Amino acid sequence: MTNVAWPAELGPVVCVVGARPNFMKMAPILRAFAANVPALPTLLVHTGQHYDRDMNDRLFEELRLPHPDINLEVGSGTHAVQTAEVMRRFEPVLDTRQPSCVLVVGDVNSTLACALVSAKKNVPVVHVEAGLRSYDRAMPEEINRVLTDQIADRLYTTERGALANLTREGVAEERIHFVGNVMIDSLLSNREFAPAAENTLRLAGIAPRVLECVAGGYGLVTLHRPSNVDSVDTLKPLLKVLREVSEKVPLIFALHPRTRANIERFGLMELVTSERMVLLPPQGYLEMLGLLAGAKLVLSDSGGLQEETTALGVPCLTIRENTERPITIEQGTNTLVGCDPRAIRLGVDEILSGAGKCGRIPEFWDGRAAERIAADLARWLVDRHQRCAAPRA
Ligand code: UD1
Repeated sequence: MTNVAWPAELGPVVCVVGARPNFMKMAPILRAFAANVPALPTLLVHTGQHYDRDMNDRLFEELRLPHPDINLEVGSGTHAVQTAEVMRRFEPVLDTRQPSCVLVVGDVNSTLACALVSAKKNVPVVHVEAGLRSYDRAMPEEINRVLTDQIADRLYTTERGALANLTREGVAEERIHFVGNVMIDSLLSNREFAPAAENTLRLAGIAPRVLECVAGGYGLVTLHRPSNVDSVDTLKPLLKVLREVSEKVPLIFALHPRTRANIERFGLMELVTSERMVLLPPQGYLEMLGLLAGAKLVLSDSGGLQEETTALGVPCLTIRENTERPITIEQGTNTLVGCDPRAIRLGVDEILSGAGKCGRIPEFWDGRAAERIAADLARWLVDRHQRCAAPRA
């Protein structure tokens, strides 16, 4: 709640989503903006970076996200083409809608593209999930994070460590506000609606004998990072070790379109064809939550799953050399194993022997992060507006 009135002449907050991991962050923010006193008017812009039913429509429905006011329909492309196309199509939105600010979340190409257009047009940029750093500039998301934070006017962080990352890069401390994790807002408010893994598998048409095998406990796998799946020399040994792991614990593998295409292109389908490996298309949000909550362990290269497993207390082995979310290692259930088969085997054995991490819930991962953002942003925008409108002495 903010004890300020919203000036009629102050434009809407343009809220940008583009790709799958943005949707679960934006849903609680839009709800909190509507519930805040005063309510913050919003305009939801979808860049169209993710577009197919599995990656997009299903998540919108399950997260109860409103239909986007504007869809820029950029679709797939190289990083340059995708980023440029979002910029080109986003600019007229700012010209016609006169927003009070542009709010971007996370680290996908759409995040940076819209932040850059806004900063150049002098529209304040608000970044949610600011200050996370892997310190790996080979990751496209790291470039997106660093650059977005540099041009953001208001930065909301998910963990206290982000403040030091940002101040080290010269971001003024008064722009930074620790609010907690909006993704966990989504998780907590949706958990009770998540179907049990068994139902999801049955609906996906998985054979009864496979269901029986999974009923004794399973590991959940997702892989999509270009560094893991775009080269046969990395992907093949990874799939081989997953195959080995599946002999110890059956695996459910939710396949990103990029990963499925590469498995087929490299002729590796045989490695993932087994009764102890269930292949699924990209899952809806609620289905994924149910699969996560029921898993004995998670093997993944995703950013978001590191946080969700920490919130659920499920041990997670992250198939990356680094993470921008160190709190999930320090306090949560996450362990980095890279793509070294030995480390993966060891990690799995440890968890299966009952010695996996239990972790604890990090500060402010309490379901109220979006509320804190709404209260702070309303105050900040109104103050800023009054300062700009005040006659100069
Ligand atoms: C993007 C994000 C990444 C995020 C991931 C989650 C960037 C730089 N990366 O990566 O941070 O973790 O989303 O999914 O923004 N595709 C489809 N259907 C779709 C969308 C994409 O088939 O709805 C295909 C594309 O044709 C492309 C591949 O999936 O071949 C990759 O899509 P893209 O949006 O470029 O990046 P992601 O790898 O999904």
